[in-house]
Parts: sequence; structure tokens; C-alpha cells
Amino acid sequence: MPRIPPARPDSGLSGLAVAILDALPSNLYVVDRDLRIVAWNSVREKGPLGRPRRTVLGRHLRQILTPQGFDAALPVLKQVFETGTTQEETIESQGARLFHVRRLPVREGRKPTHVLCWFEDITERRAMEMRVIATDRLAFLGQLVAGVAHELSNPLAGIAGCAEALASLALGAPAGTARREAREFRDLIRGEVARCERIVRSLLDSARPDPNSTAELGVTVGTALRLLQRHPAFARTRVVSRIPQDLPAARIDPDSLKQVVVALAMNAAQAMPTGGTLTLRGGRAGRDVVLDVTDTGPGVPAHIRRRIFDPYFTTDPTRGAGLGLAIARSLVRGRGGDLVYRPRPRVSGSFRVTLKAAGGRA
Ligand SMILES: Nc1ncnc2c1ncn2[C@@H]1O[C@H](COP(=O)(O)OP(=O)(O)OP(=O)(O)O)[C@@H](O)[C@H]1O
Ligand SMILES: [Mg+2]
Repeated sequence: MPRIPPARPDSGLSGLAVAILDALPSNLYVVDRDLRIVAWNSVREKGPLGRPRRTVLGRHLRQILTPQGFDAALPVLKQVFETGTTQEETIESQGARLFHVRRLPVREGRKPTHVLCWFEDITERRAMEMRVIATDRLAFLGQLVAGVAHELSNPLAGIAGCAEALASLALGAPAGTARREAREFRDLIRGEVARCERIVRSLLDSARPDPNSTAELGVTVGTALRLLQRHPAFARTRVVSRIPQDLPAARIDPDSLKQVVVALAMNAAQAMPTGGTLTLRGGRAGRDVVLDVTDTGPGVPAHIRRRIFDPYFTTDPTRGAGLGLAIARSLVRGRGGDLVYRPRPRVSGSFRVTLKAAGGRA
């Protein structure tokens, strides 16, 4: 273990800066480049993560956090210092409360000199979101039932026809033929009924995700891309896939993840009808597994960004149903992950899928 420098009680913050941090209603602390704590606000002294300020100021973060907490925070803090970009993740405290954590670079010159770690307790908000997801599921179930009814209508019409024929045979035909034909129709009816049962079973099975299933990002992205490579929409699309081998499995069933990848890749290809590059890049963000899907098309215009995840929203009603992104987001959120649009420089269309890593806490 590297040597930890002794505590330096003087944080270097002015009284006003300390007062401002104390006035904020959020739980936060600040570390310098040596990972020493230079600020620890009053909200951070209370609650499940709380410790008195005088016991932490000037000390190394490793001495304050649990070993697991420190190991999880270290790569994220390094990333903020190196890249100067904000990192966000969701973590669960020992008291089973959920925190949205933002780690923001603080600069005195060009490079970040400190990182402000900001914790927001989102336990209640997430519970409410889960209720909304449950409502979404009900809406999807409604659509499924409509699908079942639709699929069942053809075999049922067949059954009705056979029943008619049986009835008229029984009434008028000579005994020998009538019995043989009645048997034939009975077999037909059985076949059609079995078909109805299979349709219902497969639709209902596909609506019920296995809560323990996991997917390997590299394998699933590979399968999805193989499916798409001969699709006409990909004729002018160059595909670049960069998925590190050592990523942990993600908490989602491979079929759902494949559906998400296909939806995002199709959208990207459709956004570049005259050609361009689609890039799929896997990685980690804190304890999550992420997949960035970017393209060199025109991007999503700012005025419709709020609506692209709405069911049935499409800018091309002649081709799309407007369900790709809505279903993809619902599949990912159903497993505790998320799907967002994140515009980035140089690559216009850019979506990020965030998934919980398997093996960690939910
Ligand atoms: N990569 C992208 N670049 C630009 N616009 C995009 C991109 N991805 C999605 N969009 C916009 O978001 C809208 C909604 O996408 P979504 O996948 O939900 O529906 P769709 O592609 O229109 O139809 P469907 O997926 O049901 O065939 C699209 O119509 C398009 O305007
Ligand atoms: Mg689509």
C-alpha cells in the first residue's frame, strides 16, 4: 500500500468558501490532487455517510472511506484529474440508500487542482421511477395483449371455419365419410389450438425478463453487428467496434441488449444515408458498464431532443414507428441502467447505454 502522508489540518479554504459549501443543501466534500480532504460540508457530517469535519480535514481519502469505497472512487477521481471532465455514477450505501454521485473538476489554472464530490440521495426518486417503470410495463403489457389478440385472430378464424364444417357434416353427410372428415377437422382444430397456446406462451415469456441474466458486451455487440452487416441501411456505413475484453458482464439479458444495440445502430445508419462512421465503444464508468454509440451524421436537432424517447415519436413516419428508442430505454431502465443522448464534439449522434456491472450490488 502506498505511504499515506500525514494529515494537514489547514484546508486552505477561506471562511467564506467554507460557509458557502455549508449553505448548500447537498452532501459534499473536496479533495486535492494528493487525495487529501480539503472541504467537508456540514450536510456531509450527518446522515448515513456522515463524520465530524474535524476528524477528516487534511487526511487522505483512503483513511476516511471504507477500502471498497476507496477502491471504487480512486479510478473515477483519477479520471477527473486526467481528463478534466465531470464523472457521474449511482452508488448504494451500506444503509441501502442510493446516491447519485457527481465528481466535478475544480480548476485554479488550466488543469483541475481539486475534485468536488457531490452526493445526492436519490432513494425516494429512484423508488418513484421504478413505479413509473412498472406503469410503463403495464402499458407494454397492454400492447402485448393487443398483439396476442391480433395474432390469435387468424387461427381462431380457422377454428371457427372447421367447427362450421363439422356441424354441417354431422347433420347431412353419409356416416362413413362424415366420421373420417370429422376426425380430420378435429385434428385441424387441435393443431390450431396448440398454435394459439404457443403464441400466447412465447409472447408472455418474452415480456418477462430473467432478473439474474447477464450479457457480455463484446459478444452481444458482435452478434448484433453480424445481424446488421447485410442490411441495406448499412451499405454505406463504416462500423468501428471497440469493446475491451476485460469488461465485467452487464446486468441485462443478451436478447434485450441485442435489441438495444440494433435499435441504436439502425438509427445511426439511417441518420447517415450518404455514408459515415458508426462507432461502438465499451468501457466502465465507476461500477457501471457503458456503451457509447456514436455516428458522424447530423445529430439530433436540439428542439426534438426532449421527445426522441417518447413512444411513437419519429421524424420519418413513412419508415419508422418511433418505438426504437422508447423500447430500448425501457429495456435498459428495467434493469437499473439508463439510455441517454449525449451530444459530443465531432461525432454528432451520440447515445450512451449505462448498465449495472454483474457481480456488484444492484
Ligand atoms: N443517431 C441519430 N441521429 C439523428 N437522429 C436520431 C438518431 N437516433 C434517433 N434519432 C431521431 O430520434 C427519432 C426517434 O428514434 P426512434 O428509434 O425511437 O424511432 P425511429 O427510428 O424514427 O422509428 P423506429 O425505430 O420505430 O423504426 C428518429 O425519428 C430520429 O429523428
Ligand atoms: Mg429507430
